[in-house]
Amino acid sequence: MIESECRLWEVLEAECINLFRRFSYEGIRTPVIELSALFKRSVGEVTDIVQKEMYQFEDRSGDEICLRPEGTAGVVRAYIENNLGNDGPRKLYYFGPMFRAERPQAGRYRQFHQLGAEYFGHDSPFADAETIQMLSELLQAIGIRKFTVKINNLGSEVDRAAYAELLKKFLVGRVSKMCVECAKRYDKNVFRLLDCKNPSCRSQVVADAPAIHESVSRESADHFSRVCDMLTSVGVSFEIDPSIIRGLDYYTHTVFEVVSAGIGSQDAIAAGGRYDGLVERLGGKPTPAVGFAAGIERLCLAMDEAARSERLLSEQKKVHLIGMGYEAKAVLYKTLSELRRKGITASMEFSDKSLKASMRSANKLGADYVAIVGEDELREKKALLKNMNDQSDGNQSLVSIDELAQILNGEFSC
Ligand code: HAM
Repeated sequence: MIESECRLWEVLEAECINLFRRFSYEGIRTPVIELSALFKRSVGEVTDIVQKEMYQFEDRSGDEICLRPEGTAGVVRAYIENNLGNDGPRKLYYFGPMFRAERPQAGRYRQFHQLGAEYFGHDSPFADAETIQMLSELLQAIGIRKFTVKINNLGSEVDRAAYAELLKKFLVGRVSKMCVECAKRYDKNVFRLLDCKNPSCRSQVVADAPAIHESVSRESADHFSRVCDMLTSVGVSFEIDPSIIRGLDYYTHTVFEVVSAGIGSQDAIAAGGRYDGLVERLGGKPTPAVGFAAGIERLCLAMDEAARSERLLSEQKKVHLIGMGYEAKAVLYKTLSELRRKGITASMEFSDKSLKASMRSANKLGADYVAIVGEDELREKKALLKNMNDQSDGNQSLVSIDELAQILNGEFSC
């Protein structure tokens, strides 16, 4: 990753952390390596992520481990192991690398990065609405203007089990038309037929299948309509899309995906939903939860040019010091550390380049000021301070070396 991209990520992370904290979220970091069983039990054994995309291997002691393909399962494991639910509801955010063995293309990588948020301990529709609202505000805060939030209701675990039976009955006469994998999924996890990418499965097998949101319980339908009402009341735009079923098995009730036009075929920039059964399934107390994750690479693709350059320009001002000869450099070296200790971004030309070459380096570094000490200046303990952003004749002045830090502090604070 090159400098400007690193800078963009740093600014973006800082902006997201600010927003997470405003919504009372706390940070959490979990390991990149986890036992494969964690994802089999949470994301689901019969899912593309576990069956095709997980980087898994046996370690020296014979344990089946993997590079995490997503963040939620690890956060839930840490939540249970550290009793994070003991003091009531808990809101946690994270940033980090995830790994999926997919064919790399623009916006789809084998190692990618997610920022995510998980809210444990509330089954209220307020928690779903707040999560989607926070995501929508986060996207706007980082300068993504063109995005659509699509939401759907998958019902409770009981609703899902009943729907699976309904779907099986509906599809039983079509098993011969299914691709090899869907024929296996039919018995093991019929739900996953709904997101098969095979065009003939899509058109001939599941195209007219009953939609899940039609068979959810009254309670779940009420929960969902409250989520929609609350989002409307706080001005969050969304579309109800019955085709959103998510490729991970842990979801219940509200699910959502955010797509951004104009970034190519990999247009899902964020996704999430409620997962009320997962904490218990992984050995914890029954705990409702809701969350989301966004792909940082895709967020950067979806940011418009203005938002990108605004973030890159917000960099701190810099000064570059140029001393002609060892004596001048030795004096400036002390000034360099004084400037940095005062919080000023400063660099210095260490090599014995000509003044012209040193000025070229200063330009390349994007220095706002250059302080030059030659033989004459050194004798008078002065430096020639030049404002690189000012093209007028009066853009330079002779100042005392001892006062450089104080002068620059004044210049940089205005
Ligand atoms: P997911 O939909 O699998 O959900 O991934 C979330 C986001 O990660 C996607 O919307 C996309 O932006 C990004 N992403 C996924 N795969 C790739 C890839 N190969 N290359 C680049 N970006 C990618 C989850 O991971 C859930 N854990 C979200 C969640 C959190 N649900 C509840 N809490």
